[in-house]
Amino acid sequence: MLDIVILAAGRGTRMKSDLPKVLHPLAGRPLAERVVRTAKALAPEHVFLVYGHGGDAVPRALADETLTFVLQAEQMGTGHAVRQAAPQLSPGGITLVLYGDVPLTRRETLEELLAVARTGALALLTVELADPTGYGRIVRQGGRVARIVEQKDAGAEELAIREINTGILALPTDRLTAWLDRLTNDNAQREYYLTDIVALAVNDGVPVITCHPAHTWEILGVNSRAQLAELERTHQGNRAAALMEAGVTLLDPARFDVRGDLVCGQDVVIDVNCVFSGQVELGDGVKVGANCMLQDVTIAAGAEILPFCHLEGARIGAHARVGPYARLRPGAVLGEDSHVGNFVEIKNARLGAGAKANHLSYVGDASVGAQVNIGAGTITCNYDGANKHRTVIGDNAFIGSNTALVAPVEVGAGATIGAGSVITKDAPAGELTLARAKQATIPGWQRPVKKK
Ligand code: UD1
Ligand code: CA
Repeated sequence: MLDIVILAAGRGTRMKSDLPKVLHPLAGRPLAERVVRTAKALAPEHVFLVYGHGGDAVPRALADETLTFVLQAEQMGTGHAVRQAAPQLSPGGITLVLYGDVPLTRRETLEELLAVARTGALALLTVELADPTGYGRIVRQGGRVARIVEQKDAGAEELAIREINTGILALPTDRLTAWLDRLTNDNAQREYYLTDIVALAVNDGVPVITCHPAHTWEILGVNSRAQLAELERTHQGNRAAALMEAGVTLLDPARFDVRGDLVCGQDVVIDVNCVFSGQVELGDGVKVGANCMLQDVTIAAGAEILPFCHLEGARIGAHARVGPYARLRPGAVLGEDSHVGNFVEIKNARLGAGAKANHLSYVGDASVGAQVNIGAGTITCNYDGANKHRTVIGDNAFIGSNTALVAPVEVGAGATIGAGSVITKDAPAGELTLARAKQATIPGWQRPVKKK
C-alpha cells in the first residue's frame, strides 16, 4: 500500500507574491497540481497535501475529493510537516514524500525509488551538482550514506560535498512514523528536519539506498520567479522535443508554448510564438503561422492557419484557410475548403464547404451553406439588445459587400444580395434582393461656391 505526502506549507518568500508559491502556474496549471497529477499516476492509496502558509487558498485552488488536505498551522520544518500526516498513513505500507514546488519529476524516477523502498530500505533521491549551495549534503562513510547535513549546519568539509539531497524519498511507513517521533529541533534553524531520519535509519541498521533521476531538472524546485521561468522553458522544451520526435516541424522550439494538450498528426508545421491551450488537435499537414493563439480547437488535415489568428472553441475542416488576423470564437465550425480572411469574426456559426468570408465581417449565430460568398464588411445583426437571433444562408448564395443581415432572417439558396443592403426580411432563393436607396444623378447640379 502506497501513501504519498506532498509538502506545500512553506512560505515561498522569494516569490514576493500574495499567491502561495505552489499555486503559481507552470504551463498554465498550478505547480502543486502537477505534483498531484504525478502522484496519482503512481496509483497510491492516499495522497496527502500538507498546506499552511496562504491559509485556505491552496485547498480551494486544488479542490479535489481524492486529495486529503492536512494543515500544518506553524511551519516547524519538513519533519514536522510530514508528521502532521503521520496518523493517517496506512500501517505496513510505503510512504513517498514529494514537494509541491518541484513540478517536473518523472514517474519512472519515482517508480524506481518505490521499488527500492519496497525492499524495506530507505530510498533517497540524490544528484551531484556542480554548485550544491543551499541543499542538504549526502555524507557518506566508506561509500555508504551516513547522514544528511543541511547547508546551515555543515562544516567546511561537508560544504564541499557535491552529492545533494533532493528531498524526495520513500520508505516503509512504520519506520517513518517511529523515526518522526524521535526527531528533535536541535540544529541551526530550530526546525524538525525530515533529513535527520537518515542517521536514525543507519543507527537502526536499515539500509539507505540512493537513486538518481535521469535528468537534473526533475528535482529542481521553484523558489523565485526566475526559477519558475527556467522550469517553464525546460518543460516546454521537453514537449517540443516530443512533438518533433513524432514528426512535427517547429520553426523554433524555443518559441513555442503548450498550456494544455496538443495532439498533432504528421507533417504539422508550427511557426514561432504560438500558444496552445486547452485541448488542441491538429490533423496531418496542418500549418499554423506565426503568432497564433489556439484554445480548444480541432483542425482537420491540410488546413492552414495564417499568422496572427485567435481561435477559441472552433472546429476547422480539412484544407480550410484561416487568417491572417482572423478571430474564431466558441461554436465556430468551418467546412472543408472554406476561407476565413482578415478581420473576420465568427461565433456560434457554421460555414459550409467552400464558403468564403474573406474580409472584415462578423458572422454570429448563423448557418451558412456550402460555396456561399460573404462580401467584405458583411455583418449578421444577431442581437436586438435583449435576445440573440439566427441568420440562415442557403448554399451558393452571394452576399454583396457591406450587407447587414438583421436576424432572424433567411437568405435562400443561390440568392444574391446587392451590396450595401440592410436585409430585414427573408430573401428568396435564386433571386437578386436589394434593400438600399436607389442611386440618382441630378444633371447639371453645381457645387455651391464661397461668396466674396
Ligand atoms: C530541504 C531539505 C534539504 C534539501 C532541500 C531540497 C530538510 C530539512 N532539508 O531543504 O536537505 O536539499 O529541501 O530542496 O528537509 N515545508 C513545509 N513545512 C515546513 C517546512 C517546509 O511544508 O515546515 C515544505 C516547503 O513548502 C517546501 C519543502 O517543504 O516545499 C522544502 O522546504 P524548504 O524550507 O525549502 O527546505 P530546504 O531548506 O530547501
Ligand atoms: Ca527549498
